[in-house]
Amino acid sequence: MAKNDTTAATRLTPALARAGFTSSFGVLAATLGSAVGLGNIWKFPYLTGANGGAGFLLVYVLATVLVALPVMMAEISLGRAGKANPITTLQTLAPKGQPWWLMGVAGMLAAFLILSFYSEVVAWVFAYVVKAASGAILSSDPQVTEAAFGALISDPLQSLLWQWGVLAFIGGILLLGVTKGIEAITKKLMPILLLLLVLLCAVSLSLDKAVQGLAFLFQPDFSKITASVVLTAMGLAFFKLSIGMGTMMTYGSYFRDDQNIPLTTVRVMAADVCISMLAGIAIFPAVFTFGFAPTAGPALVFITIPAVFSQIPMGQALMVVFFVLASIAATGAMLSLMEVPVAILHERMGWSRPKATLLTMGLLVLLGSTSALSNSTLADFKLAGMTPFDLFDFVSSNILLPVGGIFIALFVGWVWGFEKFSRSLTNHGQLHNHRVARAVFFLLRYVSPALILMVMLKGLKVF
Ligand code: PHE
Repeated sequence: MAKNDTTAATRLTPALARAGFTSSFGVLAATLGSAVGLGNIWKFPYLTGANGGAGFLLVYVLATVLVALPVMMAEISLGRAGKANPITTLQTLAPKGQPWWLMGVAGMLAAFLILSFYSEVVAWVFAYVVKAASGAILSSDPQVTEAAFGALISDPLQSLLWQWGVLAFIGGILLLGVTKGIEAITKKLMPILLLLLVLLCAVSLSLDKAVQGLAFLFQPDFSKITASVVLTAMGLAFFKLSIGMGTMMTYGSYFRDDQNIPLTTVRVMAADVCISMLAGIAIFPAVFTFGFAPTAGPALVFITIPAVFSQIPMGQALMVVFFVLASIAATGAMLSLMEVPVAILHERMGWSRPKATLLTMGLLVLLGSTSALSNSTLADFKLAGMTPFDLFDFVSSNILLPVGGIFIALFVGWVWGFEKFSRSLTNHGQLHNHRVARAVFFLLRYVSPALILMVMLKGLKVF
C-alpha cells in the first residue's frame, strides 16, 4: 500500500517529485510557484483598494503570519507524512473509521469553485497580451482603459473563447505531461516579472500623487476595519498561500524528508507578501494620480497597469512582456489548483491521468462559463446578491478555505498530535525547530480554529 502510494505520488507531477528529490531550491520554487499568481497581481490590489487600504493590509499581514502560516506548516507536514493525494493522506493518518478524508473531498470542491473564476481572470490576462500588443489600451486616461476592459468582459463570446483557450492550454500542458517544463520556465522567468514590478514601482513612485497612494497603502484608518474586512483579509491570506483545500498537502507529499518545513514556509510566505506589496506600490500611486477609483473591484489592475506603462519609453512592448509573465505566473498557480482534482480522480477512481484531466476540464468548461458570462449574459443572474463569478470567489476564499483551515488545525492539534508534528518540523530531532514546533502546535490546537471560526461568524454576520 505504502509503496503504491509513493509510486502514484511520484507519477503525479514528475516535475515536482523530481525537484523534491533533487534540490531543496526546487521545492521552494515549486511551492512559491503555487503561491505566487494572480492573487498577488490581481486580487491583493483590488481587495486592498475595495476595503480601505492600509487597515486591510495590516489585518492581511497579521492573518498571514498568525493563522495562515501555521496552517501551511500543518498542511505540508501532513502531506509529507501521507505521501499521496489529500483524501488518501487523511485516510492514512487518521484513526480508522474517522471521516477526516471528507476534508479532501471539500478541498476538491473548493478547487473547482476557485478554478471556475480563476480561469476567467487568467483569460483576461491572456487577452491583455494581445490587446497590449495592439497598443489599443496603452493610455493614462481612465475612460480609455476602463472602456477597453469593459468591452472585453461584457462580450460573452470573447469571455468564453479566451477562457476555453486557457483551459485548453492548461489541459494540454497536463495531458502532454510538460508540467516539468512549465516549472522550469517559471523558475527562470519569475525574476524578470519581479524586475518589471520593481520598474513599475519606480515609475509609479515618481508620479504626482505618489504620496497619496502610499498613504492609502500604509497609513491605516482603523475605523475602516470592520468584521467583513477582517474576514476578507483572512480569506485572502488563505488564498494567497494556497492553503485550506489540499494544494499544499499535495505539494507536501513531494517534499524531501530532509527539507526544513518551517524555513521553507516562512520564506515562501515572506516572498509572497513582498510580491503583493510591490504590486500595491506599483498600482496605488497611479490610481490617485490618474483619477481611478481604488474601489474599482476586479477591474482595478486591468485599468491601472496600462496607465503606468503609458508613462515609460517602450511602454507598449514592456506591457506585453508584463502580461506574458503574469500569464506564466498564473499558469503555475492554476496547474497547482488542477493537481488536486486530477490527483484525486486518478488515484482514487483509478482513472488514467488523461481521463481525469479531461473530465476536470469538461466540468470546468461548464462551471467556468457561468463565471465567464457574469459580466454579460448572466449579469442579472444573482445568488445571495452576487454574480456567479463573485459568488465563487466569495464562497471559496471566505468560507471553504477557512473551514478547511479549521479542520486542518483541529486534525493536527487534537488527532495527529504533538509528537508527530514536532518530529515533522524538526525532521526527527535533527533540526533546531523544537521551539517553533511547540509554538505552532499551540496555535494550531488552541488559537487558529477558534480565531478562524470567530472571524468567519462575525464576518458573515452570523452573530
Ligand atoms: N495562491 C494562488 C494565487 O495567489 C491561488 C491558489 C489558491 C492556488 C489555492 C492554489 C490553491 O494566485
